Amino acid sequence: MNPVRVGRARAHANIALIKYWGKLPKEGNYPAVPSLSLTLDGLVTTTEVAPQTNGDQDQVLLDDQELFGPKLARVSALLDRCRQEAGVTERVRVVSHNHFPTNAGLASSASGFAALVGAARMAFGLDITRPVLSAEARRCSASAARSVYGGWVTLDVGAEAAKPLADGDYWPLGLLVVQTTKSEKPLGSTEAMNHTRATSPYYDSWVQTAPKLHAEARAALTARNLTHLGTVMEQSTWMMHACLLAARPGFAYFTPTTLAVTEQVRALRNQGEAAYFTMDAGPHVKVLCHAERSLALMARLREVPGVVEVTLCTPGPGLELAEGGGARW
Ligand code: PMV
Repeated sequence: MNPVRVGRARAHANIALIKYWGKLPKEGNYPAVPSLSLTLDGLVTTTEVAPQTNGDQDQVLLDDQELFGPKLARVSALLDRCRQEAGVTERVRVVSHNHFPTNAGLASSASGFAALVGAARMAFGLDITRPVLSAEARRCSASAARSVYGGWVTLDVGAEAAKPLADGDYWPLGLLVVQTTKSEKPLGSTEAMNHTRATSPYYDSWVQTAPKLHAEARAALTARNLTHLGTVMEQSTWMMHACLLAARPGFAYFTPTTLAVTEQVRALRNQGEAAYFTMDAGPHVKVLCHAERSLALMARLREVPGVVEVTLCTPGPGLELAEGGGARW
């Protein structure tokens, strides 16, 4: 009998309010700065890992497209670790789907690798306790470690695994994803982080300042103080992007439309709205606000010339696992 069974998992994307940007200079993909995130409802990846019945190689299908080259290698590296730990050699077939609003432009690596780790470890009959799942997800993509948990999550400097801080229903906030283009991001986060560390004169001060921003964000979360949280979130965002701007050669993820959205958020704040922006390794903007103001703000963000779409997200759950066909999803 094949020792591999069917494992299924569902994970949600998360957005970092305090950014992870930079790896410790050692093997294992450990973050050089602490990050703090919110896992979001609605932005979901579902993944199934099953015994391979179609040849003697791992096969990976993402949104019905088979993966090859470096993308396949990144998944196979995880599967190899699972095989080694389980003491088996069986190959598997991975089928994964991103159920994101059309072209939301959100990084899917966090939900993607969290779901993959869950489904794979279940398929190989390995330990599926949360800290183990989060540590394995971190090795694949550090932000994925945070998607193992729902709601508010921290990933500390050099940590093996992320830790939950508060459930999603702790604070009724909304996060508006403002899509500014339909084109793909031009530079991957790992490449950009390594380039920043190697060439940016601002990198050391980023690494020194990030823990202070993280501590402030934790205090703001405890106090449910959106003004304070939003203010440090924006500083973390600009500092991360400033590091990359100052690299050699410098690089900007943001576009004129990105900046126009940040201007609109500032204008809304001047009108008394509690709205704060952040940007990741791409040109889109995410706006944090009180849940009850999210629909009104959505309309105002849609007015900005160049904005393609605005999607409302709310705090969401952590990684869910199901064996075989037992899942409702
Ligand atoms: O985990 P990665 O390699 O996809 O990097 C994520 C980097 C940012 O999204 C920019 C910040 C973060 O903390 O998620």
